[in-house]
Amino acid sequence: MKEYLGARLAQLVEHRLDVTRVVGSIPTTRTVITLGIETSCDETALSLIETREHEGHFECRVINSLVHSQAELHSAYGGVYPSLAKREHGKNLVPLLKKLLSEISQAPSYTKASEDKDAHTASELSTVLETFKSELSKTNPDLWQSLQGASFLSYVPNIDMIAVTEGPGLEPTLWVGINFARILGTIWNIPVVPVNHMEGHVVGSLLKSDLPYGTWQCLSEPALPALSFLISGGHTELVQVNNIGGNDQGRYEILGQTKDDAVGEAFDKVARLLGLPYPGGPHVSKLAHEAYEAGIVSPVKLPRPMIASDDLNFSFAGLKTAVLYAVQKATAKNEFTDEYKKGLAYEFEQAVAETLETKLRKAILETDAKSLIIGGGVSANHLLRKRFQAITVEYGIELFLPSLHISGDNALMIALAGALDHTKSGPTDVRPLVAHGNKRLS
Ligand code: KG4
Ligand code: ZN
Repeated sequence: MKEYLGARLAQLVEHRLDVTRVVGSIPTTRTVITLGIETSCDETALSLIETREHEGHFECRVINSLVHSQAELHSAYGGVYPSLAKREHGKNLVPLLKKLLSEISQAPSYTKASEDKDAHTASELSTVLETFKSELSKTNPDLWQSLQGASFLSYVPNIDMIAVTEGPGLEPTLWVGINFARILGTIWNIPVVPVNHMEGHVVGSLLKSDLPYGTWQCLSEPALPALSFLISGGHTELVQVNNIGGNDQGRYEILGQTKDDAVGEAFDKVARLLGLPYPGGPHVSKLAHEAYEAGIVSPVKLPRPMIASDDLNFSFAGLKTAVLYAVQKATAKNEFTDEYKKGLAYEFEQAVAETLETKLRKAILETDAKSLIIGGGVSANHLLRKRFQAITVEYGIELFLPSLHISGDNALMIALAGALDHTKSGPTDVRPLVAHGNKRLS
């Protein structure tokens, strides 16, 4: 193994291999360990999962999953500041990987490949890094800098493949994760599989993630066609899901989407108008709940945008503007009190819930969906979770909701989506590693 790795590195340097595509082979006879990398927005996240196919079912267990949120840093700007997010990912990835690996070194569910670990010498490691130097030191100086002290990278851990988010998201931040994945894939000589972030949200909701780390679980198999409702800071999408896993075209059909702001973005903008911190969704929801508890009546009636339209599209920009006008009017009349804010937050949340619910019902009927999969950060909203539960009971279909700690961005869902696709489609079809800010499900 050691000699093989040395030869591979020599080959790399001599021929300047195409490292935009890192293709290796993964074992088919045993379990597969996947490292997930997520940097599409303001969460730097890494995870390690183990998967296997057992009697026709896809099984997995979580070995470790870490999320480093930058939300507090961005809060000062009222939203994600892309160049700051890029810099932070560059600084965070290496220490986070170190933590991920050190935390699991004692885990019974993760045994090292062999007692005497395969290792590169310091000079072999620096030779590989050298091949990335001219590019990375300019495009990702922070990542480049932190890689310099990362001697632990010379040990080849028991990881079979890497799954990294390719999009959608902020292109500069996506590139940081992709470049990190390329370097690790090259050093460790394992394949790197690009993953669609939204597909991550879909499959993440199929995990029973409340099980303790290390416990094997069978990934839920939703009845098909399933309807997926993806509600996040960047998306509001109704998607028909015809297949889970693999990468055949037509697995996903986008039925409707937002024409302007995403629902999470609307929550964030309304939070800002109400003087609440970023990310605003949980804060607006908390105020709305306080209004409900205190029996505060909304001071205004807000629109339910596009509920009468024939299609399955959404628009939240007008709703946000209606909140802005209400705030301006109340401020001018000196009525913008805490009570007013609570009432307005309540009415806003109701308007969102009714709008989402109307389109969701329409989509369930149009697609004759057999199950509903909710994904994306807004799925943490308590009111919406209750509404989704009621609707699926009413239509007699199964509901898959992400558990609260993985409703936001995480790398568990990315590793899972990558492992699932790669297991079903094989390593022959690994796409080039390129960031796609507007990547769509297809
Ligand atoms: O999926 P996610 O973590 O990141 C994106 O891919 O966009 O979603 C983040 C969004 C933010 O807009 C945040 O305000 C919203 O999810 N969010 C919520 C709640 N928790 C998070 N929105 C409403 N209610 C919540 N409880
Ligand atoms: Zn997301």
